[in-house]
Amino acid sequence: MNEQHLEPLKRHPEGRALRAEVDLGRIARNLDRIRAASGGREVWGVVKANAYGHGAVPVGRALASAGAHGLAVSSLEEGLELRQGGIECPILVLGGLRPEALPAASAEGLTIAVVGPEHLAEYAQSLPAHPVRLHLKLDTGMGRFGLLPSELGDCLGDLRRLAPWIEGVMGHFATADDPDQGFALRQRHVFDACLSQLADAGIHPAQRHHGNSDACLRHLVDRDTHVRPGLALFGLTTLPEGRALGLEPALALVAEVARVKHVPAGTTVGYGRTFVAPQPMQIATLACGYADGYRRDLGNRGVAGLEGRTFPVVGRVSMDYLTIALPLDVPIAPGVPMTLFSADPSAPHSVERLAQALGTIPYELTCGLHRRITRRYFP
Ligand SMILES: Cc1ncc(COP(=O)(O)O)c(C=O)c1O
Repeated sequence: MNEQHLEPLKRHPEGRALRAEVDLGRIARNLDRIRAASGGREVWGVVKANAYGHGAVPVGRALASAGAHGLAVSSLEEGLELRQGGIECPILVLGGLRPEALPAASAEGLTIAVVGPEHLAEYAQSLPAHPVRLHLKLDTGMGRFGLLPSELGDCLGDLRRLAPWIEGVMGHFATADDPDQGFALRQRHVFDACLSQLADAGIHPAQRHHGNSDACLRHLVDRDTHVRPGLALFGLTTLPEGRALGLEPALALVAEVARVKHVPAGTTVGYGRTFVAPQPMQIATLACGYADGYRRDLGNRGVAGLEGRTFPVVGRVSMDYLTIALPLDVPIAPGVPMTLFSADPSAPHSVERLAQALGTIPYELTCGLHRRITRRYFP
């Protein structure tokens, strides 16, 4: 691995070198795959939470140039980060916006989700001077953000005033990954009923979108004009349909070996002495710990890859370091890169397999990758 690509400040004097290697070509190909799976619908690429840990600006640029309709983020700050990164495509702020922030959003040409009935009148007052495009979020069954169908009737007056700025209507599935599609279909039904109610009030938004990655994979996108995938763009999925689609994981987490020790049998490693070397072996210390997002509960459970083989993570994972056990005959030295998250979905240390072992979801593992990790991008 070429050292000069590492940002100097992220390189520990003793060899700390930890990087997330992100393949933007894979992200562009995943975009094509998920677009095809959703019947060619336009894509709002979801890049909130630093593009699920992959790096919002480089990923956003790659998606925009690969033909995504726009990018979706969680907050105003995330939207501004993309604009400051030179991204010019539509950016939808999913988490809504207080009316006092409308001038800032308008100046940057952001699109805003309206997530409740609270501020409709203030929006109507502010928008003529500070126009933004709006997407009306409906709570069709997720139970968190969005206007409830029962609130819609009372809001129609305000919404009619906002109509010139309402570009889209959106919902969000609670159970798109569930083989039983009953609740998802109920959500779709509620969505359609709300759209009819809006149409009767003379509100005809150009865009409709209810579907995340799993909804695209499970063909729950129905009469929608757009889809809103996140996870699948990064080549990650919890569904067999996602693997069958050939999604390619875009991220590998790589740490260079910082120290190697030959230890005799009986040596204990790390806090709590939870690992005892059963025979003479090598212990490689990698400068990656739970502060970087490598989960502490992978201690004595995870594995790291080296040239097609894997070796166990032994002892407790600490804040900045973890330790790997290798037989004495494996050539290993400081500076050798080992893979902690593999981009091969079938590897035992793929993000999906690790998430499964930990009883969590791939989202949590990649979103947890700290910003102090160097990101290196490949076209
Ligand atoms: C409102 C909304 N839309 C779309 C997505 C993308 O979902 P996924 O990553 O499952 O495709 C999310 C993700 O959490 C979301 O909150």
